[in-house]
Amino acid sequence: MKAQRVTIHTLRQMKERGEKIAVLTAYDATFARLFDEAGADVLLVGDSLGMVFQGHDTTLPVTRDEMAYHCRAVVRGVRRAHVVGDMPFMTYQASVEQGLVNAGRLIKEGGCHSVKLEGGAHYVPLIERLVAAGIPVMGHIGLTPQSFHQLGGFKVQGRDAGGRERLLADALALEAAGAYAIVLEAIPADIAREISAALAIPTIGIGAGVECDGQVLVSYDMLGMDESFKPRFVRRFATLGATIKEAVGQYVSEVRGSTFPSDAESFAVTEKQAAQVPLYSTGAAKK
Ligand code: KIV
Repeated sequence: MKAQRVTIHTLRQMKERGEKIAVLTAYDATFARLFDEAGADVLLVGDSLGMVFQGHDTTLPVTRDEMAYHCRAVVRGVRRAHVVGDMPFMTYQASVEQGLVNAGRLIKEGGCHSVKLEGGAHYVPLIERLVAAGIPVMGHIGLTPQSFHQLGGFKVQGRDAGGRERLLADALALEAAGAYAIVLEAIPADIAREISAALAIPTIGIGAGVECDGQVLVSYDMLGMDESFKPRFVRRFATLGATIKEAVGQYVSEVRGSTFPSDAESFAVTEKQAAQVPLYSTGAAKK
């Protein structure tokens, strides 16, 4: 049976019913398929790909074309999840027109179902324009990694005087402009609770406590791909980094010891019947 696609309306209904929304980042079709099959509601093709996939120190170098490429891969992997494409640094900061053109290209070329952009009330004109053009927008306030240099690093936000009021005012402004959800990153849990209660649209927290309407984590972090990276707000639900290293170590040793491949993993000229069946079938052929 065809899975019912999660839409921005589904997410709003989930908030109304008090059902939590599970969001993960994804950057390729294989992980996207696994996350989708495991029940993730939303897959965010985050510009965190600049760090975990491309190996940069910040998200700043990611381009629109790279984002569109990863969005296409993720969209091909999912049947049910809503796919959000992140607007990379300097693809929307210069003007409303620039943001409109680049968001449109992420939807047309990347195939994602909505876009996310970082920033507060300053982006109200852009969000209104995108929504008017039929492009759903997820907001993102608190720690906004594209402002890494302005913020002086990756730091918890909203702790200074006036921080609570500014965050609440930004969240209300984004909702009024038509955003369908807002990511709250690295802010004190009590501020996130207050914002979540004040908004009709869902809040998605990362380092913002349990009282957001949903949670998002960078998938590579929650899967434990990098054993040396464990910020306080990340929970490792697996230790895939260690598992992968163990498997590859085993493979290397079996190749070196000539115990891989075995006869059962090799072909012989006498196996006529085997020669007539395909070596393997791809996921594409199954669909
Ligand atoms: O780029 C990203 O992965 C994000 C999430 C951490 C919210 O923006």
